[in-house]
Order: sequence, then C-alpha cells, then structure tokens
Amino acid sequence: MKIFEALRKDHDKQRALVKMILDTQGDSSTRKDFFRQLKCELATHAVAEERFFYAPLMHTDQTVDMSRHGVAEHHQIDKLVAELEKTDMSSANWLSTFKKLADKIEHHLAEEERVFFQQAGKAFSEKEKIDLADEYLAQMKT
Ligand SMILES: [Fe+2]
Ligand SMILES: [Fe+2]
Repeated sequence: MKIFEALRKDHDKQRALVKMILDTQGDSSTRKDFFRQLKCELATHAVAEERFFYAPLMHTDQTVDMSRHGVAEHHQIDKLVAELEKTDMSSANWLSTFKKLADKIEHHLAEEERVFFQQAGKAFSEKEKIDLADEYLAQMKT
C-alpha cells in the first residue's frame, strides 16, 4: 500500500463519523460516542500524517508551502474541537460550531486528496510512498 491510500482510508472514517454526528440529536449518548471517536480519529491521524506525510515534504522547496498550509489547517481543526468541548452539546451553538468543523474537515480532506497528493506523488520516490505507508500504519496501530 502507498501512503496516499493509507491516508485516504482514514479520511473516509472521518467523513463517515462527521455524517453520523450530523444525524444525531442533542446531547444523546450516540452524539457523545461518535464525537469522542471523531476526536480520536482526528488527533491520531493529524500526528501520524504530520510525521509521515508532511514532515518529509518540508524538505523539498516545491512542497514546503503546502505542508505548512496543511499543518496550519490541523491547528484550525484542533481549535474548533476545543471550542466544541467547552460548549453544551444540546445547544444550537454546539451544532453550528460542529457544522463549521464539518466544513473545515471536508475542505481539508478534499484539498489533501485533490491537490497535495498529486504534488507529493511527484516529490516522493516509489519506495518512499510504500515505506511511509508502513510507518504511518504502524503508528496508527499503537
Ligand atoms: Fe490532514
Ligand atoms: Fe489527512
């Protein structure tokens, strides 16, 4: 497996969780449970992706800007998650903030898959694409 496929699989998990959360109501146990899962997915993915996708791309002039941009969006996502944790889950405010997070995640994943993966595809050797996937997957298992 190459790094792109490994990342994309976890992106799909995030998309599914976002969709399921949007279908929940108030401070129900399902909303709590899915939100807990999404937080975990976002956090573990961001760390492993920064380490095994963005960090190696920081070494190349052609991909340094996109790497910084991607990592900056991880921080924006973290901030929205932190804001949601401080907000009453049954309030309209929680849902409107969650929708902002959902839009941000959707934008971020689409940009990675449609733009960054293409650029990284040219920057990485075929061996790197496979080695990075192995390292990414190993870290996600821990
Ligand atoms: Fe990302
Ligand atoms: Fe990602």
